[in-house]
Amino acid sequence: MLISSSLQTAPVSRTSVQAESTESLLDLHVAGLSTAIQTACLGEADLVPYRVRQALNHALNPVVTERLVSKVLSMPCSAQTYTRHVLHSDPSGMFTVVALRWEEGQASPVHAHYTWCAYRVLQGALVEGHFEWDRSVEQAYLFNRVDRLAGQSVCGHGGMDFIHRLGNEQKPTAVSIHVYGIDAARISTHVNRKLAVKLEVNASK
Ligand SMILES: [Fe+2]
Repeated sequence: MLISSSLQTAPVSRTSVQAESTESLLDLHVAGLSTAIQTACLGEADLVPYRVRQALNHALNPVVTERLVSKVLSMPCSAQTYTRHVLHSDPSGMFTVVALRWEEGQASPVHAHYTWCAYRVLQGALVEGHFEWDRSVEQAYLFNRVDRLAGQSVCGHGGMDFIHRLGNEQKPTAVSIHVYGIDAARISTHVNRKLAVKLEVNASK
């Protein structure tokens, strides 16, 4: 069955980069999290995304989450596409932490990752579409959709085994926090590998 999506997929998200102090926005609002992520990055390579996800889940209790969401919602946003704000840039370039703000109808492109990632939904709900890569036609096709509610987290290694699209299909505004294994200077160019998409078969609706 073919589906049509009401999501407005924008090819490029708007990014803002912090420049207000030597202490990052993450350090100001979530004590200890950047150190915990740094420790995770120095551990066994296979386990890095899972330990970063654990660090997110451990640090982001309801009080801290509310404070961070309030800060993100006070920052500039776009009516056309989801907005990305850099919260922390690891000095050695091992990782970058960003917050994404999603208004109703905004979504990412379908993409794989060049690097590991971990994310957690802080407010609202996202819909995550999972895609399989069809080598014969060099296109991705949708095989599953999952609701990601506030408090849920996901992680994965880079590569074509993890292809997805995230979007916010309804109000309220959604906010999520994402960690990528790359330096901030390349966050716009070396994280998402955008892919062509086949006609979508909806597996859940
Ligand atoms: Fe992604």
